[in-house]
Amino acid sequence: MTRAVVELGLLDLERGAAILLRRALAPLRPGDELVVRGTARELTVRLRAFARQEGHACRDGDGPGIVGVLVRGEAMGARWLGAERAGGAREDGVVAAPPQRWGLAVRGAWVEAGLPDFAFALAEQDRVWADDVGAQYRAAAAAQWDPALAIPWDAPRTHPAEVEDALVGVLTYLIENETAALIVPAKFAAQVHPQFREVMQLLALQAADEARHIEVFSRRALLAREAFGLSTVGGQLSLRTLLDEPDFELASLLLSVLGEGSFVHLLGFLHVHAPDACTAEIMRLTAVDEARHVAFGMSHLARHARLDAGLLARLALAIERRHDALRHSAGLNAEVFDALVVLAAGSFAPDAIARGHDAVQQLVQQMDAGRRTRLRRLGFDAARAAELSALHTRNFM
Ligand SMILES: [Fe+2]
Ligand SMILES: [Fe+2]
Repeated sequence: MTRAVVELGLLDLERGAAILLRRALAPLRPGDELVVRGTARELTVRLRAFARQEGHACRDGDGPGIVGVLVRGEAMGARWLGAERAGGAREDGVVAAPPQRWGLAVRGAWVEAGLPDFAFALAEQDRVWADDVGAQYRAAAAAQWDPALAIPWDAPRTHPAEVEDALVGVLTYLIENETAALIVPAKFAAQVHPQFREVMQLLALQAADEARHIEVFSRRALLAREAFGLSTVGGQLSLRTLLDEPDFELASLLLSVLGEGSFVHLLGFLHVHAPDACTAEIMRLTAVDEARHVAFGMSHLARHARLDAGLLARLALAIERRHDALRHSAGLNAEVFDALVVLAAGSFAPDAIARGHDAVQQLVQQMDAGRRTRLRRLGFDAARAAELSALHTRNFM
């Protein structure tokens, strides 16, 4: 048993003496004694109250100038009895099934007992985690770009007015798709147990990327026009199935692996066929962001599929279900398809339009090939991957 002494002088418990008491108690072990000396008024009474509150015993002073003797309790303060460590602070300290009672505590914090359960729907590591998610978050944070500085807004525009109209039509379609692509990760970011904070942070950055995409597409569309183009029932019905998908894994497959994966090709196509340098740079930067969104979708689903033999069947079913739901809708509107042809053609000369049409057909094939490759990387065989890719929405996203 150790016996330590703390000297409070005139300091009262109302004015910070507790800090000195806790500091003196911290290095002691349960059962050790702390002799408290001090001359503040009513210190004896207040010392007893302090001891009760913090889970220590308190004896009367046993010598001149001693107001009391504290006997260190089990925990450092009664309120910390039953406290627990919320996993390890680093990524390798993740707890696979963290309890809801840890709430918003950062991973690795010392969590006081008694918090009512939170209700984070995504509370199992295997459902959300990717092995390199911390590195993916840091790369995404480093890759954020400033639309004001990164885009040459004043680049010359020399293309015909009808090509500009086609571009505005495509941009209108893109913005609508970006809006769905913002809402989905934002929704799931709010459902991730904070134990998996890197996943939550990465989804938040993904939503921020989409906010930036909406900004640059809108700003480009309004550079030379006062209004946007068309919003169609078929396009919106397709996107609505993404918003309505409550399951993170299935939404990730449909949005990131299939939709955003197809969009990487679309943005690459628009980069190549952009009528001006401003549009070209917008498409290049947004495609880089989209590739990251696809990479996270792939890495967490591939990890999940390794751990859960039933996942692939559920993913396949989600694709089939969505295809059925959209069976009677038009998918991509013909105006967008034609606008892509015009952009690739660059003019309305018949042979240019023919080349543009070929280029769009090639784009559709590239998108399909990309989807098949990713589905195979998730574990589907070639035939099944081809089948499932073919069922993907005609809206691309
Ligand atoms: Fe986007
Ligand atoms: Fe995206």
